[in-house]
Amino acid sequence: MTDFIPPFPPRHKKDLGPLEILKHARRDLLSIWTEDAFDRQFMVTKIINRSIFIANHPEIIRYVFLTNHANYEKKSPLMRKALEPLLGDGLFISDGDIWQKHRVLETPLFSTEQVAKYSEVMIKATEERAQSWSAIKQGGTINVLSEMGQLTAEIICRTLFGNQLGTEQAAQVVKSFAQYQAAIEQMDVNTFFGLPGWIPGLGKNKGASAAKAIHQIVDNVIAEGIKSDNKASLLAHFLRLQDKKDAQDALTKKQIRNELIVLFMAGHETTANTLAWAWYLISQCPEVERRLHDEVDSVLGNRSATFADVAKLTYTRAIIEETMRLYPPVPILSREASADDTIRKRHVPAGSIMLVVPWLLHRHKQYWDKPDHFIPERFLDDAPVKPDRFTYIPFSVGPRVCIAKYFGTVETTLCLAILARHFRLRVPEGHQVTHECRLTLRPKDNLPMQISAR
Ligand code: HEM
Repeated sequence: MTDFIPPFPPRHKKDLGPLEILKHARRDLLSIWTEDAFDRQFMVTKIINRSIFIANHPEIIRYVFLTNHANYEKKSPLMRKALEPLLGDGLFISDGDIWQKHRVLETPLFSTEQVAKYSEVMIKATEERAQSWSAIKQGGTINVLSEMGQLTAEIICRTLFGNQLGTEQAAQVVKSFAQYQAAIEQMDVNTFFGLPGWIPGLGKNKGASAAKAIHQIVDNVIAEGIKSDNKASLLAHFLRLQDKKDAQDALTKKQIRNELIVLFMAGHETTANTLAWAWYLISQCPEVERRLHDEVDSVLGNRSATFADVAKLTYTRAIIEETMRLYPPVPILSREASADDTIRKRHVPAGSIMLVVPWLLHRHKQYWDKPDHFIPERFLDDAPVKPDRFTYIPFSVGPRVCIAKYFGTVETTLCLAILARHFRLRVPEGHQVTHECRLTLRPKDNLPMQISAR
């Protein structure tokens, strides 16, 4: 077991006032927390007129995301305002009937049988990436975050949209989504807390050109998908529904585009961030690296991976799970209460913001032993204590759980195993690894690492 504690932002000793919270939140949403927040179960603060609750106990999370989820289904105003220009009424931010209809339509595409089929594409795309890495000279530097982003964007495109994205468009997708997130940072963070628009924000519509670039690529993908004869893709499924004359289920052209953008966004960055953080964590822990290599060598030997191997790659998967505990790709889940409620004898007025913060929960002092240490072993079957379903929630939980939880787990496990069979990555001397937190949590500066063949 390792003694490695990877970096995290300093925690405040005393509660911050509303203005201080806003100031810190503008820079980094992980920098607003006090030491105490990692030890408390339910918190409330008030900023201007809006109450902000933080559910930080498994029973409260069960209540908010499961028992009374209907009251907390609506995404917070920040989410909606930040993502609407890009996603329209796409699954990620819609609620009510539209969400229900789209969720039902898309769920079959993420079944175990489908993921087993997609795994062939995941493996092929990762082998191609390994091939391109082998052309890099020993000790050469790669930007791990963008490498992982291009790989996962390619995987989404081939599995769900039915055709190849290609190096150039994959790079463009990754760049445009990153630009869009950067623009969100500059949007008034006030909206996050539901504050009025008169408090100065930092400008709007900066993401417009990034959104336009993404829309253009997705339109190309749809045009290619229409031409292609791949009948198994999500896109083909949507297009077939449109063909039926009385199709109640059919989505409009615009809705199809929105759904594809949601899947591109939700599906490539989360997995890319997880993989990038995993490479960093492994590079700092020789013991973990050795165990990973032993596993991939014994499970895969000299051959490529198959879907059946996923079940055998238990340590690789534990690394992925521990990585998502320490650096949850979606570190804050925010909702708006639709109606008045009472939780732990506290009145929760309609319109309040309810935050569930994997960043706090996953490092909570009451729920984890050595909460800030990197210990993949805690996710192995023989671990003495099993992580609780409502305490470890990288994919959220309840009806709005990530639709691709299984897809994402299989994908990250396979990508890591296949690449770790061939390569070892190291942080260049003098480079300080740190984080960047907007809607997602990722390593800052693209995570440059030096590559060498094993
Ligand atoms: C490591 C990988 C992933 C993580 C950690 C992750 C995490 C999450 C989380 C936390 C949510 C809920 C967000 C919220 O309630 O505010 C979510 C929703 C979603 N994710 Fe994932 N995700 C991952 C991979 C993927 C992939 C690969 C796809 C698509 C192929 C995807 C598609 C979606 C969609 C469409 C939603 C919205 C579901 C709904 O609202 O019904 N995710 N994801």
